[in-house]
Amino acid sequence: MATGKVFTPIEIGTMTLKHRVVMAPTIHEMCYGGHPTEAYLAITDTYARSGVSMVCVGGATIDPGKSGEVFPNALSIADDECVFGLQRLAETIHAQEAKACQQIYHPGRASARYWAQSDPSWLPWGASAKVPFMAAAKWEITKKGGKWSAVNTMPPAPVREISLEEVEQVVRMHVLAALRAKKAGFDAVNLHFANVTLIMDFISPYTNVRTDGYGGGWENRMRLPCEIVQATRSAVGRGYPLIVRIPADQGLGEVGIRFQDTLRHVVPRLAEAGIDAIDLSAGVLDHTPHKIIPPMYDARGCWLHHSEEVKKVTKLPVIVAGRLCDPRMIAKAVENGQCDVAALSRPLMADPLLPKKMFAGKPDDVRMCVACGYCMSESGWTKYCAINAESAREQTLPKIGPAGRPRKVLVVGGGPGGMEAARVLRERGHDVTLCEKEGQLGGALRVAAAAPLTREWRTFTRWHVRQIGALGVKVLLGTEVTRALVDELAPEVVVVATGSVQSRDIDGADREIVAAEEEVLLKGKAIGRKVVVVGGAFWDVETAINLADQGKEVILVREAETVSMNRLGPIRALPILFGMLQAKNVKPLFSTKVVKIEENGVRVENSVGDSTLLEADAVVLSTARVANRKLLDELRGVSAELHEIGDCVNPRSVADAVYGGRLVGARI
Ligand SMILES: Cc1cc2nc3c(=O)[nH]c(=O)nc-3n(C[C@H](O)[C@H](O)[C@H](O)COP(=O)(O)O)c2cc1C
Ligand code: SF4
Repeated sequence: MATGKVFTPIEIGTMTLKHRVVMAPTIHEMCYGGHPTEAYLAITDTYARSGVSMVCVGGATIDPGKSGEVFPNALSIADDECVFGLQRLAETIHAQEAKACQQIYHPGRASARYWAQSDPSWLPWGASAKVPFMAAAKWEITKKGGKWSAVNTMPPAPVREISLEEVEQVVRMHVLAALRAKKAGFDAVNLHFANVTLIMDFISPYTNVRTDGYGGGWENRMRLPCEIVQATRSAVGRGYPLIVRIPADQGLGEVGIRFQDTLRHVVPRLAEAGIDAIDLSAGVLDHTPHKIIPPMYDARGCWLHHSEEVKKVTKLPVIVAGRLCDPRMIAKAVENGQCDVAALSRPLMADPLLPKKMFAGKPDDVRMCVACGYCMSESGWTKYCAINAESAREQTLPKIGPAGRPRKVLVVGGGPGGMEAARVLRERGHDVTLCEKEGQLGGALRVAAAAPLTREWRTFTRWHVRQIGALGVKVLLGTEVTRALVDELAPEVVVVATGSVQSRDIDGADREIVAAEEEVLLKGKAIGRKVVVVGGAFWDVETAINLADQGKEVILVREAETVSMNRLGPIRALPILFGMLQAKNVKPLFSTKVVKIEENGVRVENSVGDSTLLEADAVVLSTARVANRKLLDELRGVSAELHEIGDCVNPRSVADAVYGGRLVGARI
């Protein structure tokens, strides 16, 4: 594994990277007043220790005014006072012998994200006033002309076209920011012209309808980015590495930057302006967020076809990210010339030792990012990882050290929480037995992994199974733990991770017509063609799509108004999911209450109290889950030390289960 082109050095301007695996720009809103906190330095240290040849610190805003603010607690490079904090970031990276790169950007329209609620009179900077910013989303599911669609009904925030004077200001801000990065000790600067930036809005015909020298055809729309590159180059000097991040494809079709435009108009002009490397991204924050951070519905390495083509039109090194979580794929992509440098963002959050494991020839030990989107839409602004509880918790989570006194521990339940606890406990030297009542490990994740759309969850279960096997955890499958078995095994400690069960709290749930999603998806229970899915579970939309894929005619009923943005945020790709619901003819009935299940269907009531019978051959329950506390009740008064984690405490997310397992594993 440790041979091949991926392990060879590459030059970007005057900077030599010792190999071709780098950290992609990744913001962590862990700053205070624009300066990095100790927590930010700690997570940067984690990335620097990963073995990457360069860490690119995520976007720092270049504008000190309101138009520069987009994310709370974000990094700033907008004035000279920022240099000290940036210097500490660069030093943290250099201490681990990696090169340090700082990404800089102007958020343009996206500053509405920050101000739209608190100061609606504020008009963010735009290339033109044409495209307002979708600051948030409130989805309405409607049926028009026989077709279902999901429409964002949140009013968009207006934007204002900046003046020519302000255009010049933008150039100066980029130059000054690059100089500050250089002064702080960064080895390179990444000019962010993608996703969420004013400069992308100048490049794109979708957002730029100016009538002056910065609008119109490609020549004019590329003028500002090229001026920024030229001005920055003259300030930072020849050879100081300038990397530019662009969206290979905005995902807007004919109206936006298409891939052929990138090849024909964007890359050649930027190369001529004097950049040293191209860094490829995709998407637009408020329109195609699922393109910026590809969800698990997209294949691994989903941007490699872009880098492969870009390499044909430029001699500059081409850097690409996009689900490069598999070390074998990374090595192959570089070897085959699909990219020059592989950039990892989430794969490093999921396993900050990925590069080291890759170089050590242990690719199977890598905990591969499953692209679940938790770090973007559900973990708030801190960027926790669902499968790696240590990410962004460098300073709070107890370290995994040898146990003071090895103890006999029984872990009950082989879901993600139970397996995580077993892994950490065994690593610390405890004698661990893990009992699972089913014939396989995985718990509730097995249901998710059964659906083609969310199959990637298998990767995480496989990793856990492999780890606990290698560590020597004794696994007893098909073993339902009772009080009698606990007495017989006589453990000193019991960790209960018995998970949750599907709620059946519906009148008629015991009728023959009813099946739990688990029975249908995992155990292959045969059901009729017309199906009503009673939703409420985390992945009920995917279950409905999965059943439609099996040729069923599906109606999905949910009491909630829509799929919660918190649980199924933009990055987990609502637009994609709703596109799929439509393509597969699944009828979503939201804001609809299930009154009871009858012999031949489901009686529902809409928000104004109208009652209808949805006729069906089968009713599949994908309802909310309820804690399975049966064993906990039985174990009351047991002499062993008792811990409870995961869904049996309170059904929440995979992330909560893994965190619980990691925490308890380190405490016992
Ligand atoms: C938490 C998080 C923060 C990110 N911050 C930035 C950023 O500051 N600048 C940027 O250009 N891209 C940012 N990205 C996008 C990544 O650099 C990367 O292009 C994208 O996540 C796809 O790569 P991956 O599959 O390796 O995550 C961020 C992604 C994540 C998940
Ligand atoms: S939270 Fe999910 S998407 Fe984010 S890094 Fe972890 S596994 Fe990947």
